[in-house]
Amino acid sequence: MATRVLVTGAGGFIGHHLVRYLVAKGYWVRGVDIKYPEFESSLAHDFQLLDLRRFDNCLIATSGVDEVYHLAADMGGIGYITGNHASIAHNDILINTHMLEASRINGVQRFLFSSSACVYPDYRQDDPDVTPLREEDAYPAAPEEGYGWEKLFTEKLCQYYAEDYGMETRVVRFHNVYGPLGTYEGGKEKAPAALCRKIALAEDGDEIEIWGDGEQTRSFMYVDDCVEGIYRLMRSDYRHPLNLGTDRLVTINELVDIIADIAGKRIVKRHELTKPQGVRGRNSDNTRLRQVLGWEPQISLEEGLAVTYQWIARQVAPTRHGQRRLVAV
Ligand code: NAD
Ligand code: GDD
Repeated sequence: MATRVLVTGAGGFIGHHLVRYLVAKGYWVRGVDIKYPEFESSLAHDFQLLDLRRFDNCLIATSGVDEVYHLAADMGGIGYITGNHASIAHNDILINTHMLEASRINGVQRFLFSSSACVYPDYRQDDPDVTPLREEDAYPAAPEEGYGWEKLFTEKLCQYYAEDYGMETRVVRFHNVYGPLGTYEGGKEKAPAALCRKIALAEDGDEIEIWGDGEQTRSFMYVDDCVEGIYRLMRSDYRHPLNLGTDRLVTINELVDIIADIAGKRIVKRHELTKPQGVRGRNSDNTRLRQVLGWEPQISLEEGLAVTYQWIARQVAPTRHGQRRLVAV
């Protein structure tokens, strides 16, 4: 009989891609979310709409499954996570504590938690030419307010459930993930999707708004690599937090230039210093990732952004009535 797995957050960006990947691998998959996927139907064998802040719903979600890929979270790009500390921390702590306990009660064998590079301390990320972050750099702790603290605390909970109850827990720290079928408007979108949208809506030679001076740096990972890494970590015997990202550092200005090249448009950057910017620089040290998984993300930024840009450009294309959406900021 096929192994039965639960993917929480299956209506969201990474969760939806993960469901497709696991179904193709022959798993029986239950997806759970508070919403259905926005852009195409889920391939999950069973999809349930459940609010995982409620413990009784977590018990329903985890019943009869062998493994849990826990991706459900109240989250978004830097604008969203800096503007909603209390609600994000409240919602996600409820979801995470209830999901772990329900998984224990229902005898789940493996539990993977999707953590974030936002657990790393601000004091190691104050320079665009940042030293890549190693897993042990998370301490002494000074993570991102709200979202980073709840991720770091849930990492500890996973450790405690492994130590006290023998649960096989896995913790993955994603670095900025992008790709098609992700949020590109509405306030939760991250930089790659936001910039693809702005450039898709711009004419050749137009000006678009960039948050900050554009010299802040990040590394970006394409969603197919993310899903592959999640699966490899779940199958491994590694119980400690592990980075999952690329280690190619780019400035946001460079990111804009790459997307503009893909679009074939000349773009003028208007830097807006009052907008949320987060840390000044962030990169992944993949030394341990390579040691543990014998693998690291493979898809280049140019390749991944080409697919992502084309998808977002189709989403924002003029309607049949010739209307265009506004270039939102
Ligand atoms: P997403 O917002 O697209 O997906 C998260 C899903 O969780 C959403 O569909 C949302 O509806 C669902 N959810 C929220 N509250 C819920 C609730 N109460 N009950 C049930 N479902 C609920 O985000 P994503 O990019 O797919 O992220 C997936 C996971 O990866 C999250 O845990 C996120 O914190 C983590 N992560 C993502 C990134 C990234 O760059 N995308 C980076 C670091 C960490
Ligand atoms: N969102 C967004 N939209 N960011 C922009 C824009 C824009 O139009 N223009 C420039 N930026 C800049 C931001 O100011 C920030 O400095 C940088 O691009 C990256 O922004 P995000 O992609 O929104 O977030 P982040 O990298 O700071 O944090 C994200 O990644 C973490 C994991 O690495 C968030 O999604 C976190 O939730 C996530 O955990």
